Amino acid sequence: MKFDQPAGQNPIDQLKVVGKATDRIDGKYKTTGTAAYAYERHDVVANQAYGYVLGAGIARGRIGAMHVDEAKAAPGVLAVVTTLETPRLERGKMNTAYLFGGDRVQHYHQAVAVVVAETFEQARAAAFLVRVDYLPEDGKYDLAAEASAAKPVPADSQEGSGGAGEERVGDFEGAFAEAPVTLDETYSTADESHAMMEPHATIAAWDGDKVTLWTSNQMIAWGHGSLAKILGVPKENVRLDAPFVGGGFGGKLFVRADAVLAALGAKAAGRPVKVALTRPLIANNTTHRPATIQRVRIGATKDGTITAIAHESTSGNLPDGSPETAVNQTRMLYAGANRLTAMKLAQLDLPEGNAMRAPGEAPGLMVLEVAMDEMAEKLGMDPVEFRLRNDTQVDPNKPDRRFSHRDLVGCLNLGSKKFGWAKRNPTPGRVRDGQWLVGVGMASAYRDNMSLKSGARVRLDGRGMVTVETDMTDVGTGSYTIIAQTAAEMMGLPLDNVVVRLGDSDFPVSSGSGGQFGANSSTSGVYAACVKLREAVAQRLGINSADAVFADGEVRSGNRAVPLGEAAAEGDLTAEDAIEFGDLSKQYQLSTFGAHFVEVGVDVHTAEIRVRRMLAVCAAGRILNPKSARNQVIGGMTMGTGAALMEELAVDTKRGFFANHDLAGYEVPVHADIPHQEVIFLDEVDPISSPMKAKGVGELGICGVGAAVANAVYNATGIRVRDYPITLDKLLDRMPEAA
Ligand code: MOS
Repeated sequence: MKFDQPAGQNPIDQLKVVGKATDRIDGKYKTTGTAAYAYERHDVVANQAYGYVLGAGIARGRIGAMHVDEAKAAPGVLAVVTTLETPRLERGKMNTAYLFGGDRVQHYHQAVAVVVAETFEQARAAAFLVRVDYLPEDGKYDLAAEASAAKPVPADSQEGSGGAGEERVGDFEGAFAEAPVTLDETYSTADESHAMMEPHATIAAWDGDKVTLWTSNQMIAWGHGSLAKILGVPKENVRLDAPFVGGGFGGKLFVRADAVLAALGAKAAGRPVKVALTRPLIANNTTHRPATIQRVRIGATKDGTITAIAHESTSGNLPDGSPETAVNQTRMLYAGANRLTAMKLAQLDLPEGNAMRAPGEAPGLMVLEVAMDEMAEKLGMDPVEFRLRNDTQVDPNKPDRRFSHRDLVGCLNLGSKKFGWAKRNPTPGRVRDGQWLVGVGMASAYRDNMSLKSGARVRLDGRGMVTVETDMTDVGTGSYTIIAQTAAEMMGLPLDNVVVRLGDSDFPVSSGSGGQFGANSSTSGVYAACVKLREAVAQRLGINSADAVFADGEVRSGNRAVPLGEAAAEGDLTAEDAIEFGDLSKQYQLSTFGAHFVEVGVDVHTAEIRVRRMLAVCAAGRILNPKSARNQVIGGMTMGTGAALMEELAVDTKRGFFANHDLAGYEVPVHADIPHQEVIFLDEVDPISSPMKAKGVGELGICGVGAAVANAVYNATGIRVRDYPITLDKLLDRMPEAA
């Protein structure tokens, strides 16, 4: 099905199942420990051996020799596969660093060997007996030192945000020079790690030339293609299966060393092999969100109308890598006739920077929305009022291109009302609650809405059950549930009559999970398949499909009412289709919007920061399942709190690696750290987006919230920190007198 005209009335609009707050149908498996993650799939194949990945101990250079005799002779060892004996393997097209093969070390903890043994402990012990002769070379590890050499380069985050290296509208420099009120500040954000609960893990088993990988991956079709290329086998000989994924956050968009080395280890050992990346390998062996240095300049008239806005971001990456797309939102969020945005890239030899938790907008809004707060203060304006003043209904870079639907104003107004923003004391450092200095802050939220082609197969059986199969993944997001809701709505069935099967490369190719495109794209694919199934049912029953009503488990036409299952009495009815998105997203800008409001307390003696309450108001099209959408948004709000207050990979700029490579040293907040999180969804539909009239919402929650936290810290203390995260050492010696 081609989607190239705005959606009209369709069966989803009944909202009997879609749009209802629905418990996750996989919830019972998650809470009883029966949702098996990749490493725990003991039953899929017998005789599983254990692989342990050894990472390089230098950040850049070559390997002269590897000594493996001791390891091979160690107890339980079945095979040792080294990078030196393996020709450099192809890369998946999304990978920057090579995953394995050859003598070159591009980054610290790049995989150099996999040791396969009967037990995990034996594999690990033997891996430490492998001796590697390194020929180290000098590398560049310090973004601040390399930033001046950075050049603007175009980028595509694969998740919506991207564009030319530099974009200009009007005459920024001229307008900025003439503006009566200006701001020119530079900010920095840290390298961050995905820190998902389930590590990257794969069980691989060969059957002749065919390999099956039970793995953990967000994008089955991308992984399928990449693994065929990396392993040098035809696609039809590779199968990936990932029914449950314990979080990805962008770290599992692309296949990683666990999958490649499980396959190579299994081949060498002649038996199935499971490999999990240990927690330390996740920081340095896989990808991360790159640190940024961002300069923002805003010029405005005295009444707060922006006349000039510039946002330049510099980040680093390996050769061939991309910059962080941190200026994306600044192209779209506020009006202003004279504009400059640029993404600059410095070459670094740190591990690969790539997509993480709303790449682009998350670190970009962390900065832009603090700059907006600073500018509002310079103007003597309320920060909400300043944003309202500069709303735009068109793409500021291409004014004849409208937003499909944009209600940032509605989010800001409802949010201020519900949060009690009017009670804010605009003078920082004035509100005390016992030992706490209390402050409030706000920020706009913005995230692109992207759609990807997505397919599904639906099958009706004689009992009136519908089974949906698609390679879509559920990365903890609720895909099983919204897909079941969609099929139930389309076929006029209760939710219990729908079975959803996900994550298998034998199923039709879906959008996969990333860039908050998964929910809207994958349910639209299920919609398309169900439209075909409805036609097949009508045809089988001899009903004109235009007259058929699917409701309450029946198909009705005129006076006739037939149980749906009867259409499949003589054999299952199967239909398959994919939604393909035309150029509506070129004619219109499709984006999601929101407003974040945060209250913090800062301990007057220790500068400890506690988030006391948070509110997000989101405008993201139709909300398919308010319950799982809320889960997504409060998860994002918690992650954004991490970016603002604690998440930081500490770079060893001499040796070129991230030093705090575990969850003891790399701290992430959890929901329990924040006593009160509220989410309000504006009641809206976006017929330009899809037949579901929905948009992405999963990443909107993280976009802007970090800035709202930082602005609240400023309001509490009067201390403006521009280097994130705001760890308490950056506040302590500047705290106001405690007395
Ligand atoms: Mo993307 S960072 O996997 O949503």
